[in-house]
Amino acid sequence: MMLNFKNKNILITGASRGIGKATALAFAEKGAKVGLNFRSNAKEAQKTLNQLSGEGHRLFQKDIAQNENCQTLIEEFIKTFGQLDVLVNNAGIFVPHKIDEIEFEEWRTVWQDTFQANLFAAADLCYWAARAMMKTGGGSIVNVSSRGAFRGEPNAPAYGASKAALNAMSQSLAKKLAPHRIAVGVVAPGFTDTDMGTHALGPEERDRLMAESPFKRMAKPEEVAHAILFLASEGAEYSSGTIIDVNGASYLRS
Ligand SMILES: NC(=O)c1ccc[n+]([C@@H]2O[C@H](COP(=O)([O-])OP(=O)(O)OC[C@H]3O[C@@H](n4cnc5c(N)ncnc54)[C@H](OP(=O)(O)O)[C@@H]3O)[C@@H](O)[C@H]2O)c1
Repeated sequence: MMLNFKNKNILITGASRGIGKATALAFAEKGAKVGLNFRSNAKEAQKTLNQLSGEGHRLFQKDIAQNENCQTLIEEFIKTFGQLDVLVNNAGIFVPHKIDEIEFEEWRTVWQDTFQANLFAAADLCYWAARAMMKTGGGSIVNVSSRGAFRGEPNAPAYGASKAALNAMSQSLAKKLAPHRIAVGVVAPGFTDTDMGTHALGPEERDRLMAESPFKRMAKPEEVAHAILFLASEGAEYSSGTIIDVNGASYLRS
């Protein structure tokens, strides 16, 4: 089946760079109108907007980790586009916090910040998006999780825990929202070539991480976008509740 998003309005959080950017480009390529949310990097966001095919795309600068911004983001999107068909909860943070090195105060702060950005914001956005989609006959939500939810994140346990919770939330919502014709899916990438994936990595660390996959490379953001588009497509409604791994067979779960 060809993926076609003509006349569909898509909101992607964290769309200025990395996986969110690749996803925005891919949706626009398939005919969608895209709302690109980002936090602070306006220059990069504008650059991404300029690269999208088609017309009518918009930027929405909002820090979704600030509670009140999630509701207003959905409201402003609907005011601009008329309807929300697909929400992609992609924005996330990864902050290392090694239990044997970090002071307790900082440990707590990282746990709170990580859960706020990676889980609570996604939950709030799901709430407002689902309420809007219920009124318009349905839609799709795709949440971007991580391989770390399954195999563990020894140096960033809050990150792994937040993504595991995101998976559980998504699967609960998949059941609850199906009667409203809202599909909820998850994409769980492994090591991906973005600022988050490669920032501050030396060549040795990079080689070690790439060697985790038998393909001996990291994922391209476009490969993660591909899975997101599949889950957001109309033909994928019955795949609701699924978690698609995009980790180059580096971690196989049963
Ligand atoms: N890269 C990997 O190896 C990898 C692996 C597994 C899972 N993931 C997941 O994939 C998703 C995207 O990761 P990425 O690698 O593309 O990240 P990235 O390169 O660090 O880009 C992050 C994007 O999210 C935005 N963002 C961050 N916090 C935000 C907030 N509070 N409000 C609004 N926007 C915010 C950033 O906006 P600004 O530019 O304005 O800061 C940017 O557009 C994340 O959920 C991540 O956990 C990534």
